[in-house]
Amino acid sequence: MPKASHTSQYNEQFIAALQWMWGDGYLSPGGPEEVEELLAPVDLRNKTVLDIGCGLGAITVLLANKYEARGVLGIDVESHLIEHCRKYAHDAGLDDKVSFDLVEPGPLPYSDNSFDVVFTKDSIIHMPDKYLLYCDIFRILKPAGVFVGSDWLRGGDETYSGQAARWLELVHLDFTMKSIGETRLDLESAGFENIHMTDRNAWYREAIKIELATLSGDRLAELAKRIGQKGANHRLQSSTLKQQVLKDGFLRPTHFAGYKPR
Ligand SMILES: C[S@@+](CC[C@H](N)C(=O)[O-])C[C@H]1O[C@@H](n2cnc3c(N)ncnc32)[C@H](O)[C@@H]1O
Repeated sequence: MPKASHTSQYNEQFIAALQWMWGDGYLSPGGPEEVEELLAPVDLRNKTVLDIGCGLGAITVLLANKYEARGVLGIDVESHLIEHCRKYAHDAGLDDKVSFDLVEPGPLPYSDNSFDVVFTKDSIIHMPDKYLLYCDIFRILKPAGVFVGSDWLRGGDETYSGQAARWLELVHLDFTMKSIGETRLDLESAGFENIHMTDRNAWYREAIKIELATLSGDRLAELAKRIGQKGANHRLQSSTLKQQVLKDGFLRPTHFAGYKPR
């Protein structure tokens, strides 16, 4: 197995905390319902799909079993996550339809016109050059292929101030965020057409109340037993600040879809 040079951001304690808030196998909010929402405009049946930033593999497996993709390849930069993914797919009896590659950050190691669909859920926030990524996704899609997914975008301008700066400082991940307008422009410049974008800020403002409930009272004490008090407190602080940046309109989780011309 190739070794990724990438520095790990998702250690076991962190992935335990994220699954505590968002459900087994999920490193992003919303569970299978949110995947259903974002896949509403797309039919995956009999398609070949690339899942960029596959995390623990629960969604990758879902694309094959619930959405009946012909084959799904999940990619990620963290080798221990890829191991989780392989076990998840094996336990689901889907070794024949679902596979995983450990990749380096940067250009996608796949040939032109290889996939019918490129999917991603909340992973592009980790990638610094979104425009280059979109060009690369366009390159590996077959003609008439679709790029569909979600990402955490930002409202307002590029200056992170006040609550946003505090939240980003606290999460301490390699996030770089673009606005909805900039993202649409990047997708258009990369060649995509018929682009749809749906702002999910209002949805997450509601959903985060449930997330915060998993981090309160007895439930916080239970989480502390698993990952330590410091880790549990950090999660609570992070989600509390996230609720504020959702309310003030800075954090805008967004669904998008764009097509490669025929
Ligand atoms: C927030 S998690 C989302 C995981 C999964 N999509 C989900 O929704 O449960 C972001 C994922 O992107 C991965 N990632 C970060 N940079 C990446 C890159 N350059 N290429 C592929 N995956 C990357 C991380 O390792 C992590 O698994």
